[in-house]
Amino acid sequence: MTGLRRRQLGASGPEVSIIGLGAMGMSDLYGPADEAESIATLHAAIDAGVNLVDTADFYGSGHNEMLIGRVLRERRREELVISVKFGARRTPDGGFQAAPYDVSAAAVKDRLAYSLRRLGTDYVDIYRPSRLNPQVPVEETVGALLDMQQAGYIRHIGLSEVSADSIRRAAAVAPISDVQIEYSLLSRGPEATILPALRELGIGLTAYGVLSRGLLSGHWSADRELTGTDFRANSPRFQGEHLAANLRLVDALGRVAQRLGATTSQVAIAWVAAQGEQIVPLVGARRRDRLAESLAAADLTLDQETLDEIERAVPAGAASGQRYAAPMMDLLDSEK
Ligand SMILES: NC(=O)c1ccc[n+]([C@@H]2O[C@H](COP(=O)([O-])OP(=O)(O)OC[C@H]3O[C@@H](n4cnc5c(N)ncnc54)[C@H](OP(=O)(O)O)[C@@H]3O)[C@@H](O)[C@H]2O)c1
Repeated sequence: MTGLRRRQLGASGPEVSIIGLGAMGMSDLYGPADEAESIATLHAAIDAGVNLVDTADFYGSGHNEMLIGRVLRERRREELVISVKFGARRTPDGGFQAAPYDVSAAAVKDRLAYSLRRLGTDYVDIYRPSRLNPQVPVEETVGALLDMQQAGYIRHIGLSEVSADSIRRAAAVAPISDVQIEYSLLSRGPEATILPALRELGIGLTAYGVLSRGLLSGHWSADRELTGTDFRANSPRFQGEHLAANLRLVDALGRVAQRLGATTSQVAIAWVAAQGEQIVPLVGARRRDRLAESLAAADLTLDQETLDEIERAVPAGAASGQRYAAPMMDLLDSEK
């Protein structure tokens, strides 16, 4: 264990490292990944003091959980706080089935059973539906999660991409540790109603896409080629004029970073961490060099003057293009 600071994830949640690691890109959605490097990255993160690792049963159709399971076999179970999402449904060719999401009470138990087996553990630390299904009341999903918590198979209940209204309904059924949602300098949506609701209810926020899926990292360039299965090939913010406009914002952030003697990624991550004590950024590093760069953001403290400078470089609402393509935006209860 090193000195990476910890944060309490909401009033009822676990204590986690100030930066968590999201493992999605090690199995899916961002083009090819190197398995040996992914495993080395997970071990390096734990060695550096990261305890929060986020995955989903559908990342790589189970591959991501099996990868984490391999790492877990070589560590002590309590070194990790494993966050697992469920609900999306895949096809054998690696595609995603159209909604609705599989978040019924029966699905909760069934999917959790498989996750426990793939991870090689007898409990998941935080278990959450990745999206809601408008046909399944959130009370049904959270009620089933509460049953699983009481039976000892999960330690905490989380949510993902939900509205303030759904957060309140869920919190009336069971304690919620955290809501996972996209939150970055380019995605400020949660600030309007979701963050205030989380603060009021004592619920944490695990922020994903803090580098806007690589766009906000300082490592992206307009000529980067994307394969058809790469999520970003269909993401509005990575296309044509939108991309050009967004990269101008990234350049402006890069100038702030340069003044601070930091990298663009580090400033983007530190900005998220500076938005509240209950907020924990997840970084999507899948290589040790990217991980080391990201974790150094934990040592970067942004004073008010710097935060103002960042706001001028990348003002709220300045991002060009939606954060998901239209059909995927429709699935987001958080945008309703
Ligand atoms: N709840 C949800 O709906 C939801 C949705 C999406 C993701 N998530 C979770 O959140 C995690 C993080 O999301 P994300 O992967 O989209 O986040 P991200 O950190 O914004 O983006 C990761 C991408 O940034 C690139 N990158 C460039 N510099 C980096 C650096 N210094 N450190 C880390 N990455 C760098 C990586 O590039 P390379 O190509 O070099 O690897 C990778 O492609 C996921 O792994 C997943 O667990 C949740």
